[in-house]
Amino acid sequence: MTVLSLLPVSTERLLLRPFTPDDLDDLHAFQSLPEVARYLYRPPLTREQCAQSLTRRAAGTAWSEDGHDLVVAVCPVGEAKVVGEIVLKLASASARQVEIGWTFNPAYAGRGYATEAARAVAALAFVELDAHRLFARLDVLNTGSMRVCERLGMRREAHLVENDLDGGRWGSEYVYATLAREWKAERA
Ligand SMILES: CC(C)(COP(=O)(O)OP(=O)(O)OC[C@H]1O[C@@H](n2cnc3c(N)ncnc32)[C@H](O)[C@@H]1OP(=O)(O)O)[C@@H](O)C(=O)NCCC(=O)NCCS
Repeated sequence: MTVLSLLPVSTERLLLRPFTPDDLDDLHAFQSLPEVARYLYRPPLTREQCAQSLTRRAAGTAWSEDGHDLVVAVCPVGEAKVVGEIVLKLASASARQVEIGWTFNPAYAGRGYATEAARAVAALAFVELDAHRLFARLDVLNTGSMRVCERLGMRREAHLVENDLDGGRWGSEYVYATLAREWKAERA
């Protein structure tokens, strides 16, 4: 299937759509910031890396094998601007395990946009993509991301201790998750 055909999706305040090459300035504006990359276990992205990532996103339209992904651009309604992105990744096609992640421009933080967009993309994962389990991995120091998980009703189900190296720092992670039946029961 062409996973990009699930977009666009509208929420109360946001338009969720595929990225286009014209989004380079907006994407680079936040992906280049050290504070945004702080808990992502990689350096901030250069403009060239953002451009490559946009090319890859446009080409990646499949959703059938481990590693396939859907990257969603988030725009406030009425503003021709991308303020964040939500990524769904097919971690296991056979077990229908889907990872969700989010990255937003800090100039648009604290308005509930990340939660609103993630909620709509979680619905895509469960309703359109038939996910059995949706999970997020985040550094234990990433309290903003933790709160997004909790507002989505995800369960903290693992605490991995010093399971990765973030430069010279041992990083520890939480895994949050929710099952399709839990997500549907919550909304019934
Ligand atoms: C993680 C991240 C997306 C969270 O951003 P955020 O702005 O805290 O999240 P939201 O957009 O959902 O905003 C939620 C806040 O808006 C507030 N808010 C204000 N107006 C609101 C409204 N109308 N509706 C809902 N919430 C509103 C909420 O109370 C909440 O504040 P709180 O967390 O202090 O309780 C952001 O910090 C980020 O991009 N970080 C860098 C990348 C990253 O680390 N990603 C995660 C990797 S695992």
